[in-house]
Amino acid sequence: MSPDFQLLFFPNLLQPPLFTLHAALFTLFFILIIFISFSPGGLAWALTLTKFVIPGPPGHPITGLISVFSGVTPHRALAKLAKRYKAEPVMAFSVGLTRFIISSEPGTAKEILGSTGFADRPVKESAYELLFHRAMGFAPYGEYWRNLRRISATHLFSPKRINAFGGFRKEVGLKMVKEFDTMMSKNECVEVKKVLHFGSLNNVMMTVFGKSYDFYGDGVELEEMVSEGYELLGVFNWSDHFPLLGWLDLQGVRKRCRCLVTKVNAFVGKIINEHRMKRVSGEYVVGKSVGDFVDVLLDLEKDYKLSDSDMIAVLWEMIFRGTDTVAILLEWILARMVLHPQIQAKAQKEIDHLTGNSSRHVSGEDIPKLPYLQCIVKEALRMHPPGPLLSWARLAIHDVKVGETIITAGTTAMVNMWAITHSEKFWNEPEEFKPERFMEHDVDIMGSDLRLAPFGSGRRVCPGKSMGLASIHLWLAQLLQSLKWVPYGDGSVDLSECLKLSMEMKTPLVCKIVPRVVDALE
Ligand code: HEM
Repeated sequence: MSPDFQLLFFPNLLQPPLFTLHAALFTLFFILIIFISFSPGGLAWALTLTKFVIPGPPGHPITGLISVFSGVTPHRALAKLAKRYKAEPVMAFSVGLTRFIISSEPGTAKEILGSTGFADRPVKESAYELLFHRAMGFAPYGEYWRNLRRISATHLFSPKRINAFGGFRKEVGLKMVKEFDTMMSKNECVEVKKVLHFGSLNNVMMTVFGKSYDFYGDGVELEEMVSEGYELLGVFNWSDHFPLLGWLDLQGVRKRCRCLVTKVNAFVGKIINEHRMKRVSGEYVVGKSVGDFVDVLLDLEKDYKLSDSDMIAVLWEMIFRGTDTVAILLEWILARMVLHPQIQAKAQKEIDHLTGNSSRHVSGEDIPKLPYLQCIVKEALRMHPPGPLLSWARLAIHDVKVGETIITAGTTAMVNMWAITHSEKFWNEPEEFKPERFMEHDVDIMGSDLRLAPFGSGRRVCPGKSMGLASIHLWLAQLLQSLKWVPYGDGSVDLSECLKLSMEMKTPLVCKIVPRVVDALE
């Protein structure tokens, strides 16, 4: 065969070095894929070359467990995987280039949440763009975050302040009862979510900004801003796990965040200025008036060197964290009341007994004398924790020992609280809704007992837990005292879950309501 003929018909044969290079690269790539495909924990773990092997699924060679997180119930999928890999104490996995561990049992969960090594949080792009790295939940572990925790423990969520807002909480509860009653008089059934969400938002707005909003008036724009923020914080953003995709902003998250931040800055900035004016006019006197969260931060802005944008971030985060969790939990509880009429009746009997057959409205002071009602809330937190993966993960700031393994700095750690609260190892009949279990054996839910820690634990435990519980207990008592919750249609309630920023009911609860106490509605 002449060289000309070869060149014409087999050009590649004349380039043996390039061919060999292609083949070598392909073989290398192939070996790499095989190596990653069998590496416990997948790509991100394979790249660390750590000598400690943690069991876990390799997942997809490039994207890892991305499909789990883009699904609606990642807590269930992760619980199943932890069982399959016998990795309940600690399981490793990757999402893109992010290294994760997850604990599905109380011992290692306590180690993770209690360790200073995990006192940081990984900051998602959306949180950063929404300026939440200056708010308590995402601020890095350090002096600034410690100051915010101090302010929240001593001032924002002090028992005195929680009590001071008791009157408004009660008003919100009565408004919700009235709203439900009006809705029922116009329709065959009610969808409860919107009312609960608006009640909760209004309550947080009063506590944080000292302002109340109408169900259908000026609250609508605010509600839209909050919903947009939830969506942006809850969305699975590819840029968080594939840094190279960051600049492309394929999902438009950055663009939407920037648009929302402008609106939020204008909205909250105006409220802060109004509060400053009240000081000038003498309407608010430092040290004498009991103010809202804005007042607290303005009182302390010099001592703690807080800028206006710091205050906006802290205040806006409270709206996000405080509204959704409370409304969602109440919706789950009401769903349970519809499904379990005998439990509902028992709680109503307890309330009637205390209030003299409902001759007066139940109030915040009654809650300590309603143990069964409190058990219902605990059981709902066990079965339907609003943050099944404790919402926001932790980040290892240095190498930390968990169980028998050293976890390298930069690893994201999660706790699967849902897996723990649904495990037969720790709970009898975990799939049964049985508030009575807590009458027999009480369990602390504030973070000391990791069998049930829906508010997290350790240094970054939820600072709003007492305030959240005060609202949930009171509103549940009010909604049960005044109204009977009954099934609509075929009587079934769909308990399917959907994890966004919090774990919501996939199908919003729709039911019928029958008034119980007429005067409570007036
Ligand atoms: C049912 C109600 C609530 C639930 C289930 C809940 C749950 C949680 C959880 C699981 C965490 C993470 C804890 C950890 O990492 O150990 C958290 C953090 C947080 N929560 Fe809550 N929460 C609730 C209500 C509230 C309320 C009412 C507020 C404020 C108004 C609030 C503000 C916060 C903040 C600021 C953080 C971040 C704390 C930090 O990182 O230092 N939460 N919450």
